[in-house]
Amino acid sequence: MTLITCIEDLRRLAKRRVPRMFYDYADSGSWTESTYRANEEDFQKLKFRQRVAVDLNNRSLRSTMAGQEVAMPVALAPTGLTGMQHADGEILAARAAEKFGIPFTLSTMSICSIEDVAAHTSKPFWFQLYVMKDRDFINRLIDRAKAAKCSALVLTLDLQVLGQRHKDLRNGLSAPPRLTVANMLDMATKPRWCAGMLGTSRRQFGNIVGHAQSVSDMSSLSAWTSQQFDPSLSWSDVEWIKKRWGGKLIIKGIMDAEDARLAANSGADALIVSNHGGRQLDGAPSSIAALPGIVAAVGRQIEIHMDGGVRSGQDVLRAVALGARGVYIGRPFLYGLGAMGEAGVTRCLDIIRNELDISMAFCGKRDIQQVSSEILLP
Ligand SMILES: Cc1cc2nc3c(=O)[nH]c(=O)nc-3n(C[C@H](O)[C@H](O)[C@H](O)COP(=O)(O)O)c2cc1C
Repeated sequence: MTLITCIEDLRRLAKRRVPRMFYDYADSGSWTESTYRANEEDFQKLKFRQRVAVDLNNRSLRSTMAGQEVAMPVALAPTGLTGMQHADGEILAARAAEKFGIPFTLSTMSICSIEDVAAHTSKPFWFQLYVMKDRDFINRLIDRAKAAKCSALVLTLDLQVLGQRHKDLRNGLSAPPRLTVANMLDMATKPRWCAGMLGTSRRQFGNIVGHAQSVSDMSSLSAWTSQQFDPSLSWSDVEWIKKRWGGKLIIKGIMDAEDARLAANSGADALIVSNHGGRQLDGAPSSIAALPGIVAAVGRQIEIHMDGGVRSGQDVLRAVALGARGVYIGRPFLYGLGAMGEAGVTRCLDIIRNELDISMAFCGKRDIQQVSSEILLP
């Protein structure tokens, strides 16, 4: 049994167990990956102010994100093709999040469909929406998320055009994977993954295939995706989406104070400072570097969340100290899932909770809701 002590251990195990095409899809950023690296590195530059001899009994990590109670201020980020990291991945991750008491966000580009995840969980999850040109399909998707009782809509605004990830091009990323000789040789070294995939029927984009026009199989899907993401998306679209949805709305992909003002004025309940995990504009600053400017600009008007590069409870604490109400983790939970399925996601969350709790205590705080920039050195 491999001893798992930190997120890096989960990453290493996932690399051994997940076929290269899907491991690389998770562990990569666009072009030179400079923003992907900066997301992680910039967290390390923030140093804590250690305090001692403070009563540390009865500590609490409980908080709220977009009005929802959370066991700690962390949510699972929407990630495409999660059901390719591990068979039935979205269902397993949603279950782990539900048991832990934090939100799970289902991506538009998931393998398990909205209805399928709803059928296998007992509490509401969040749904992430990509806006595509086929507005009938988008309207139906919003209605499906409502019917499934999703409790927040996360509207992603930073993917109207696609950043290039070299590895995905080299690996010929597809779902399900094409059975080339190279892919078959790679998969032969990943027997657990293969057994899982053979045991499930969920191997396609569940929200799309059979629901969008002219998409009945995967071979037409990649062409459909590049044609469908709508480059003309604007703030007026946010308005009709908000109206059609009618529930909690979270806007994802804000990196600029001016955009943050527009997001606040749109009437959304929260915004996510995010550069899509360094997968879109290579050369953009890290999310944690962008956070303070956005908090200063609109922190009184709208709840602010962030994601990108969170790899530990210490990173969660740093983001909360700089004004984030909560953070999302993408790759850390994907590594957990690829390494050990549902138990791996739970392990990932346990690790982060423990690190967050103990680090908060070292900073002399007992309640995450009392954490502010005073715990960081200037
Ligand atoms: C493999 C992968 C797939 C992703 N797919 C989506 C997606 O479908 N929708 C979306 O809004 N964001 C997507 N993202 C971005 C994540 O929601 C999140 O912004 C990012 O992963 C945060 O950075 P982290 O991975 O360093 O935690 C994806 C990220 C990864 C790593």
